[in-house]
Amino acid sequence: MQSPSGKRLTAADPQFRDDPHAAYDILRTSPTPVAIEDYGCAFVTRHQQVLQGLKERSFSVDARNAAELSYMRRVAGTGVKESQGDAAYEPPLVLLDDPAHRHIRGLVSKAFNPNTIEAMRPRVEHITADLLDAIEGRSQIDFIADFAGPLPTMVILDMMGLPLTHSANFKRWSEEILWGYDPQRDRATQTRLREAYIGMAAVFRQALEDRRVNPGDDLISALVQAREADASLSELQIISLCTQLMVAGNVTTTDLMGNGLFALLQHAQQLNWLLQNPQAISGAVEEMLRFDCPITETARIAREDIEFAGCPVHSGDTMTLSLAAANRDPEVFPEPHVFDVQRKADTHLGFGSGIHLCLGAPLARMETQIGIGSFLARFGEGLQLQADTAPRRRALPFFRGFDTLPLTLASA
Ligand code: HEM
Repeated sequence: MQSPSGKRLTAADPQFRDDPHAAYDILRTSPTPVAIEDYGCAFVTRHQQVLQGLKERSFSVDARNAAELSYMRRVAGTGVKESQGDAAYEPPLVLLDDPAHRHIRGLVSKAFNPNTIEAMRPRVEHITADLLDAIEGRSQIDFIADFAGPLPTMVILDMMGLPLTHSANFKRWSEEILWGYDPQRDRATQTRLREAYIGMAAVFRQALEDRRVNPGDDLISALVQAREADASLSELQIISLCTQLMVAGNVTTTDLMGNGLFALLQHAQQLNWLLQNPQAISGAVEEMLRFDCPITETARIAREDIEFAGCPVHSGDTMTLSLAAANRDPEVFPEPHVFDVQRKADTHLGFGSGIHLCLGAPLARMETQIGIGSFLARFGEGLQLQADTAPRRRALPFFRGFDTLPLTLASA
C-alpha cells in the first residue's frame, strides 16, 4: 500500500504529511489489516482492532522480541543503544514489558495522578501567563517557538525542580531524541541524537547528585528516594525515566497545542463558538486529540503465533497500530472528518489504551486546556495564520506536529 502520491506511507512524503487520512480511509475499507512495506505484518486502522491490539496482553513492546530486520529494531530501542557507544542506555518505559514496566511505572504514577496534577494548576497558569506577557504587543509570532514549545518544557522542568532557564536546551534535545523513532535516520541525525542523549543525561545525573545531598519537594528528589529504598534500581534506569518524561512530556503537548490551534484556525465557526464559550475548552481539547493526534502510530510485537484481527501473526512480527486512523473511524465517530468542538470525542485513542496508556494524560490535558484557553482569551479575536509564511509540519513518522506555526495577532 502506498500513499496517494505514490510514495511510501510516511510523513517524509509531503502529500501524506498534509493529508494522511486519504490513505487511512482506503486502508480502513479492508476488513482485516493490510501488510505494508516498512510497517510490519499489519497496519491496523479500524478503531476496534487498534483498541484490541493496545489491550492484548500477549503482545510485547520490547524491540528485542522483534524479528531481526523489523523496523522495531531500528527505532529508539536497540538502534539508540548501538549508536550510544560509551553513553549507556536503558529502554524507556514505553518500550518495556511487565514486570519491569510495572515496576518503573509504579515509581512515578503518584506524581502523575489526577489529584497531584490538579494541585499544579496555579503553577501552570503562572508559567502560561508569563509566556503570554512576553508576547503582548507583538503583531507576529511563531505559536510553536513563542508559546506551545516552551510551555510544556517549562512545566516538566518545574516538576523536576530544574531551572526554567534550561528550557531552550531541553526542547532542542527533546526534538533531536525524537528522531530516534525514524527508522530511516541518517548518520548526521544519529550523531545529533546521541549528543542530545548525552547532554540531557549529564543534567539529570548532576540533579540526582544534588538532590541526594539537598532533597526537595520535586520529582527528581522522589526518584532519588525511590532508588535509596530499592537497591534493584540503577542510576541509569532513573536517568532513562527522566529522559522519557522530559521528551514525552514536552514534544507531544507542544504538538497537541499546535495541531489544535491550527484546526481551530481552519474552522472559523468552531473558533468563534469556542471564543464565545470558553468553558467548553476541555471538550474541545478531546476533539483536538481525536481530530489531529500528536502520536499517530504505535507498534506491538507478537510473542507467539496467533491470529489477530483476522490475520495470522507469527512470533517476532511487528504490528503497527494507527491511533490517527482509529480516531477517524466512521463506525465510532459519525462524520469523522468534521472538526466539531462540541462532539463527544472521549473514546479517541490519542493517549493509547491498556497498560501503556499515557502516564501524562492528566498533565497534557490540563496544560492544553490552560494553554489554548488562555491564549485565545488574550489573542483570540482577530487571530490569523500569517499570510506570507506557511506553517511547516515536522517530517517525522509517528509524531505529528508543527515545527513552525506563524500567526498574526490583532491585539498589537
Ligand atoms: C498531548 C500530549 C500527549 C500525547 C498525545 C501522548 C500520547 C501517548 C501515547 C499514545 C502513549 C502510548 C504509547 C503506546 O501505547 O505505545 C503514551 C505513553 C506515555 N506517555 Fe504520553 N502523551 C502525551 C503527553 C505526555 C506527558 C505530558 C507525559 C509526561 C510528562 C507523558 C508520558 C508518557 C509515558 C511515560 C508513557 C509510557 C507509559 C507506559 O509505557 O506505561 N505523555 N503517551
